[in-house]
Amino acid sequence: MPLDIDDIMAEHADVLDGGEWAPPDCVARHRVAFVIPYRDRWGHLKSLLYYLIPVLKRQQIHFRMFVVEQFGNDTFNKGRIMNAAFREALKLFDFQCVTFHDVDLVPEDDRNMYSCADMPKHMSIGIDKFNYRLPYDGLVGGVLMFRTEHFQQVNGYSNMYWGWGAEDDDMTTRILHQGLRIYRPPSNIARYKMVKHDGRKVSEVSVRMKLLRSAARRSKMEGLNNIQYNLLYTHTEKLFTHFLVDIGHP
Ligand code: BGC
Ligand code: MN
Repeated sequence: MPLDIDDIMAEHADVLDGGEWAPPDCVARHRVAFVIPYRDRWGHLKSLLYYLIPVLKRQQIHFRMFVVEQFGNDTFNKGRIMNAAFREALKLFDFQCVTFHDVDLVPEDDRNMYSCADMPKHMSIGIDKFNYRLPYDGLVGGVLMFRTEHFQQVNGYSNMYWGWGAEDDDMTTRILHQGLRIYRPPSNIARYKMVKHDGRKVSEVSVRMKLLRSAARRSKMEGLNNIQYNLLYTHTEKLFTHFLVDIGHP
C-alpha cells in the first residue's frame, strides 16, 4: 500500500516544522543534520521519512532533515547539491554532525546508531541489493556521517562529478588524504534495504577514472570552499526543510 504523507505527518505531530525533533525528556548528546539529495523520487522520500524518523526517535537523536533538490533538468551533480545544502543547513541548525543519506536506503536495524563518531562513519555497509556485503573496501556511498569540522577539513565533496558515480569514491580519497580514518559499525547491524528504482544517467567511465586519479590533488582546491550556487528557495515543510538550488550546467 502506498504511504500517505498525511498519515506520516500525523504520526509525527511532535516534529517541528522544517523537520526538527529533539527528545522531550532529556538533552540529546547528538545534534545531527540530515542532508538528503533529491530528484523526482517522492515515493522514496516518503518511505525514508516513514522508516527513518522512528529509528532516530528511539535513538534519542536531536535531528533536522534537509532535502536538497537540484533545479532544472541538467545532469545530476550530487556533490554540488550536498555541498550547497551543508552550507545552508549551517545557517539554520546548530549541529555537531551531518549525515548524507541516499533517498533510496532504509535502515533495517535500530542498533546502527546515527550518533556522532570520532571519525567519518560509513553506515550503509550491507545493502540487500549487494547481498549485504560491502562491494569494495573503499566504498563510502549510501549513508555517510561526518563531524561538522571533518566535513570542512576534507573540503566537502568534489563539485566536478556530473551524472551517477564516483563522487563518493572521490570522497574516500579526501578523507584518507587528510589522515582521517573511515569508521564502520559491525556489518551485521549496519544494514539497509534499497528501494527499487530505474536506471540513472551514468557518467562516462573514462571521465570518472580520470577525475579520480587527481582526487587528492584537487581536494583542497575545489569542493566546499568554491561551490557556486543560487538558493532559489527554502520551503519549511512539516517533516523537512526543502532547498532548491541552481548549481549551473555541466
Ligand atoms: C561508483 C560509486 C558507487 C558504487 C556502488 C561505483 O562504481 O563509482 O559511485 O557508489 O559503484 O554502486
Ligand atoms: Mn541507489
